[in-house]
Amino acid sequence: MSSSGNDFASVVIRWQRDHGRHDLPWQQTRDPYPVWLSEIMLQQTQVGTVKAYYARFLERFPDMDALAAADLDEVLSVWSGLGYYSRARNLHRCAQAVRDRFGGKWPRSPDVLETLPGIGRSTAAAIAAFCFGERVAILDGNVRRVLSRVLGFDSDLSKMANQRALWALAEQLLPVDHLRQTMPAYTQGLMDIGATVCRARGPDCGACPVASVCTARRDGDPHAYPVRSRRLSRSAQSLWLLWAVRADGSVWLERRPTPGVWAGLYCLPVFPSWAAMASVVPTPESAAFECLPVVAHALTHKDLSLHPVRIPMAGGQLTQGDGGEWFSAARWPGLGLPAPIRKILSAAG
Ligand code: ADE
Repeated sequence: MSSSGNDFASVVIRWQRDHGRHDLPWQQTRDPYPVWLSEIMLQQTQVGTVKAYYARFLERFPDMDALAAADLDEVLSVWSGLGYYSRARNLHRCAQAVRDRFGGKWPRSPDVLETLPGIGRSTAAAIAAFCFGERVAILDGNVRRVLSRVLGFDSDLSKMANQRALWALAEQLLPVDHLRQTMPAYTQGLMDIGATVCRARGPDCGACPVASVCTARRDGDPHAYPVRSRRLSRSAQSLWLLWAVRADGSVWLERRPTPGVWAGLYCLPVFPSWAAMASVVPTPESAAFECLPVVAHALTHKDLSLHPVRIPMAGGQLTQGDGGEWFSAARWPGLGLPAPIRKILSAAG
């Protein structure tokens, strides 16, 4: 192993070699396309879930050209179930931007990477460090926790100025030598320490390679870090889903407006109340409404209670929002649908 020229970094790199994760599918390459894809998926989704989606996505879109040339609906369909669909829309736009702005060749500078759709500072840094050995610091949720504990950084990270200060400290800890080798190992090492040792709840300080220099460990209070005064507040909402179905099994689906929940995906018509839903059915008095079991679904800021209501229809139009159309039982499974809606429709058999 090459020396990193920095004691902290050398310890992290050595620990990564002996105790870190080496079997993640996106670690076997320096090709920016799969690395970028994994980083976008991992922004809001756990490693265990990402693995299957990652494999399926690469199978369907094996390279940048395939993704850039694809239909957005198809991209959303393969993404369906991962949530945070703006990630899929940005993925598609980013592939087109790399093709159109850079002739299909990824830029290596983190500052340039950050100008691409869906790529923020930390994701740009991860791509630049993993693929090109650029000397640049990442600061995702896990790494922020590790570094704020090690450094005893107790300023409020809900303030941008404090985030910038932590970022500057993170840069001072980076390896200085043999960057092509040391930057990927160091970056992965910090991520691995955050994910497997320096956990949010129940950090395993006995297994931590940097425990001897850790301020939070010395003070006996790792849970005090990171400091963030503003928390997400959650709310709850009930929504009624009108599930109109024709005798041939086709269902009425509408594209969701942008921005908003499930933006751009196809969905059963959504209503804030039973009355609002019943008002769009042409002959509600004769309609045989069938209320199905409530489905609980958690969004980032909101707990949804979804009330699917099934109603047989002869045909006609159910216009609301962006309009919609009847999709046959052969067609709707191929659309980009929110995961809970796909589940509801699939359960019908
Ligand atoms: N989270 C974000 N990036 C990651 C990576 N490359 N490996 C594991 N977890 C991650």
